[in-house]
Amino acid sequence: MNATVLDSDLRPYDLRCEHLESPPAVEAARPRLSWKLRDPRAGATERGYQVVVASTPEGLNAPDLWDSGKVAGRRPDPVVYAGKRLRSGQQCHWRVRSWDLAGRPTAWSEPAGWCMGLLKPADWIGAWISPPGGSDAPAPEENACWYFRGGFTVRGPVRRARLYVAALGLVEPWINGRAVTDDCLIPGSSHFPKRAQYVAYDVTPALAAGDGNWIGLILAPGWYAGHVGRADWKFRFGDVPAVRGQLVIEYSDGAAETIGTAPDWEAARGPILSSHLYDGETFDARKGRDWPAVSPGAQPLRARDFPGRPPRLTGKRCAPVRRQEEVAAVKVTRAPTGEWIFDFGQNLVGWARLRIRAERGREIVLRFAEMLQGDGNLYVANLGTAKATDRYIAAGSGEEIWEPRFTFHGFRFAGLSGVDGVPPSDTLTAVVLHTAMPVAGEFECSNPDLNRLQRNIAWGQRGNFVDVPTDCPQRDERMGWTGDAQVFFRTAAFNRDVAAFFEKWLDDLDDAQRPGGAFPDVAPDVLPRAYNAGNAAWADAGVICPWRLYVETGDPEVLARHYAAMRRWIEYQRRTSRNGIRPDTRYGDWLATDAVTPYTAPTPRSLIGTAYFAYTTGLVTEAARTLGKRGDAVRLDRLRRRIVAAFQREFVTAAGRVVGDTQTGYCLALAFDLLPPSLRAVAVDHLVRLVDDRQGHLTTGFVGTPLLCPVLTRFGRADVAERLILQDTYPSWLYPVKLGATTMWERWNSYSPETGFGDPSMNSFNHYAYGAIGEWLYAHLGGIAPVESAPGYARVRCAPRPGAGLAWARTWHDTPRGRVSVSWRLEAGRRFSAEFIIPPDTVAEISLPAGVGPRREFRVGGGTHRFAGRLAAAPARSRSLSSSP
Ligand code: BGC
Repeated sequence: MNATVLDSDLRPYDLRCEHLESPPAVEAARPRLSWKLRDPRAGATERGYQVVVASTPEGLNAPDLWDSGKVAGRRPDPVVYAGKRLRSGQQCHWRVRSWDLAGRPTAWSEPAGWCMGLLKPADWIGAWISPPGGSDAPAPEENACWYFRGGFTVRGPVRRARLYVAALGLVEPWINGRAVTDDCLIPGSSHFPKRAQYVAYDVTPALAAGDGNWIGLILAPGWYAGHVGRADWKFRFGDVPAVRGQLVIEYSDGAAETIGTAPDWEAARGPILSSHLYDGETFDARKGRDWPAVSPGAQPLRARDFPGRPPRLTGKRCAPVRRQEEVAAVKVTRAPTGEWIFDFGQNLVGWARLRIRAERGREIVLRFAEMLQGDGNLYVANLGTAKATDRYIAAGSGEEIWEPRFTFHGFRFAGLSGVDGVPPSDTLTAVVLHTAMPVAGEFECSNPDLNRLQRNIAWGQRGNFVDVPTDCPQRDERMGWTGDAQVFFRTAAFNRDVAAFFEKWLDDLDDAQRPGGAFPDVAPDVLPRAYNAGNAAWADAGVICPWRLYVETGDPEVLARHYAAMRRWIEYQRRTSRNGIRPDTRYGDWLATDAVTPYTAPTPRSLIGTAYFAYTTGLVTEAARTLGKRGDAVRLDRLRRRIVAAFQREFVTAAGRVVGDTQTGYCLALAFDLLPPSLRAVAVDHLVRLVDDRQGHLTTGFVGTPLLCPVLTRFGRADVAERLILQDTYPSWLYPVKLGATTMWERWNSYSPETGFGDPSMNSFNHYAYGAIGEWLYAHLGGIAPVESAPGYARVRCAPRPGAGLAWARTWHDTPRGRVSVSWRLEAGRRFSAEFIIPPDTVAEISLPAGVGPRREFRVGGGTHRFAGRLAAAPARSRSLSSSP
């Protein structure tokens, strides 16, 4: 072995089960296992692998659940557990080793684990319970929080205790006076008519021998019983929240006991007076921070059975929301309203932690906003009906520290009132929350504006991946808009490991599919009107997202799970089309700059629908092939050809113009391969003409924007794409950057110095859709792109292009096989050098800029590969905005 390669470097790392690190409630009978490899040696490959699974950590030496033995060859993506049948609550420990290119086994990986969930409905003993009803029960609009409590006895030494909690609402579980977890907003959001999630925790150390143990559950309305969407819609999944939990105690003597929620549990109101996701939380510290006590002599209130029909339960399939980072205020100023304005310097999502000294009963008010008005007051007009206000009533007990629990805000600025004197800047600290997703990539280059753009995209993703991929995190929407999610998917997957996050959301989406096969505009579906489904580019998320998740992970289970729903959407489109042409549907090229209103962009909506119909039919054809459904694949392919012919008949002239003559129209026709090859070059010329007509600006909305630079690049006009990315006047990606944006904006001109704030009825400063340009930064400027025909990064396309005035770029991405890194540098104008680090078993299709070597295209395997040479021509001097020397 190469002396510089240590055994310990080669062992498999990043072990995942069901795409998660140590998931606590797995329901798959045969969980999916995966890991990554690193090996710097040229030609690195996995010649074999061995997985062992045991019910105890010590047992890994003599595994009682599964020993795959040495399996020759590279592992499949993923490896499917094939050991003993697993039972509810079973703890599994596992590790893996691999055989390297020399046929030598690596050291064993660090052990990892997973735990099975409750596999049968009958395993649930706890009942669904709700707050007491009756005439004095608070109305749903009050967003009351409730505290439930049940006692139990521990009657001997405990081997293990697990707490399972599901909710129609949000819950904070406690045992014996302490919160069980730091996880936030659990168990999260789902399409509640079909499904609710549960979470599970090991609580063994929290139990005490004997009597007097108790479980507490704080229940808030959350995504279920709090209204979701604009307040005037008054939409909520249900009026009455509910919680269901159980503690399973396994005693050292082998006996087991389950304590479940029951209608006789005590129910009380406590210091959290109310909480709503959009409106904020009110906490009365005078009521104490401990569990609310029943006043001596009083009869405690009791819970009641949940009055509705509860949905089925699923163990949470993605990681929970967690606190990710704290951000200190960079500036504190005083607004004309008298509020103290804390500027955190970054538009972010989460809440503020308050640290205060105040007399008993003093009410401290915190309001949140993304922007300031010209007069220095918070700009809240764009929040719609979201109140985004937290209130804290002081106990008067010295220093008091408080964070809310069941709300979140999208903000850069917080306004504080109710304090005396100038508050110290650490009175408020911003706490960043989002679904815990490992960072999976970075793009960095010599242009600081592009780096800021990349950071804005990453922050936009963080703020909007809060259990659901939302459109925006601040106003009264925060919904899982399907169109936004599908256009952003690839970028999201470059930045973070989103496999589990999207697996969970794809369940929401399938659950919300309408009976006729139309996917809804939002999932979970809080817009149950007929016209909020089946809309082109939005509903198509039901095919595009599972397909892209498959391309990212190489995991065919994703396709198998969603195939029926994908197929139903194609069938719906077929049924509701005329001669292959889709009717106009609702949104079109949403927020295109050449539109009079968002609904009236000039790209015909039936053109967009038909283009997507062809595209999604093509993807489902591929899915059918992958799953071995040959008959389906043949039929779907025939259908796709008919749609393409219809598209050409209806929307393409013989001379190659696309009806509407818009940038978005040409982008769709080219990106989805809808033109006869003979017309492609003409269409590209038309697209370039349309960019030139606007002096190097785009006119595209949600539909066209993600396609624009990739299409120009694919068809040989990277120069135009680079001109677009460097553009910094309206409309362009760098326009908000130049104005100091720290996240992506909903509109190209959400704010402009000339006209001020955009239409407040729909104007968010944290909307990731236009951040879909991220995939092009990674792929084109950086040089890392997945290859659709080789999913799971079996092949990776590495075609970095020195352009856009860049002197260097560095990009990496953690693929399911390991890390791919590409970095390149341009010196003295023409001298190009690049380094590619490729994990074992990935084939890199390297494409070098012309002139660097005698050959431009290479296929290489794992290892580190370096190339250098002189470019045939200096890169086109697109106007560079780089401020670096
Ligand atoms: C949302 C979008 C969404 C759109 C539908 C808006 O209110 O914020 O991002 O996709 O409606 O067109």
